[in-house]
Amino acid sequence: MFPLQRNRRLRTSAAVRELVQEYKLSSTDFIVPLFVVEGSKIKEEIPSMPDYYRMSLDILEEEAKNLWDIGLKSVLLFVKVPDLLKNNEGTEALNSNGLMQKAIRCVKKAVPEMVVMTDVALDPYSSYGHDGIVKKEEIENDQTIEVLAKMALSHAQSGADFVAPSDMMDGRIEHIREILEMNSFPHTGIMSYSAKYASSFYGPFRDALDSAPGFGDKKTYQMDFHNRKEAITETLLDIEEGADIVMVKPGIAYLDIIRDLSEQVEVPIAAYQVSGEYAMLKAAADKNWIDYDALVYEQLIAFKRAGASIIASYTAKDAVRILNA
Ligand code: PBG
Repeated sequence: MFPLQRNRRLRTSAAVRELVQEYKLSSTDFIVPLFVVEGSKIKEEIPSMPDYYRMSLDILEEEAKNLWDIGLKSVLLFVKVPDLLKNNEGTEALNSNGLMQKAIRCVKKAVPEMVVMTDVALDPYSSYGHDGIVKKEEIENDQTIEVLAKMALSHAQSGADFVAPSDMMDGRIEHIREILEMNSFPHTGIMSYSAKYASSFYGPFRDALDSAPGFGDKKTYQMDFHNRKEAITETLLDIEEGADIVMVKPGIAYLDIIRDLSEQVEVPIAAYQVSGEYAMLKAAADKNWIDYDALVYEQLIAFKRAGASIIASYTAKDAVRILNA
């Protein structure tokens, strides 16, 4: 009780405050999402994601080396697929010489120790822009997970360390784990987007990959943001099916879900600070309405405080700069 207890004593100087900090951020907490396109010498800025780029394989190789040099040791690959190669079954996703497969080999060759994670979902390959196979305007679950499992195997065969299913079909983790085991990839990990909500925060990402759904929305497979307990059900199931890392997505508006999961599960939890969150920070910073560096740092610490130990974020490089300042 006051005056014996004065909480301000632990805030008296920067050094004291640092000493008693409960949560810290490090470059090794991050997964860096990267967007890959066909071609060469291409580094094109994504209009709704300022300072973020789609890059061809030659630039990807340089970028992987740069990231490693500054201490960013995990990447999550996404590819932009030409319209000509898209169809309902996402056949191109299984091409052993497709862009994703080449991108995996490219990063692994440039930086063998880099943790390479890959997006597993049909949307960039789908003529409908949906994460699964479409039948009569509905998303087929059981046929889709067959393709997703083959896609994951193809990524493992190309050298991926973790596959990251972002599709929210039922039973896909089990299917993927089985096909990996059966084909002698017991060490390939699965980072499951286990609690992924149907969200309007994904808009800029869909611009980046030209992958917006051609009809309807994703509400029959991604989660309803009115719900909280469902995130626990989904995540516990994914762990049972073989997920090594689980994920909550989007980020800042879903800290309660991260906290709920951290109280329930023992596996590492990743938070995904998604494209719309990044776009909002950049837009407000551009108007000089916020202090970008300070707010990025504050939000990243909030993820850790909520219970995430891993953060996928477009701010990763900025975070390293901020941490080194
Ligand atoms: C694809 C996928 C999406 C994101 C990651 N993987 C988009 C979606 O589900 O529509 C969103 C990432 C972001 O917004 O940064 N299944």
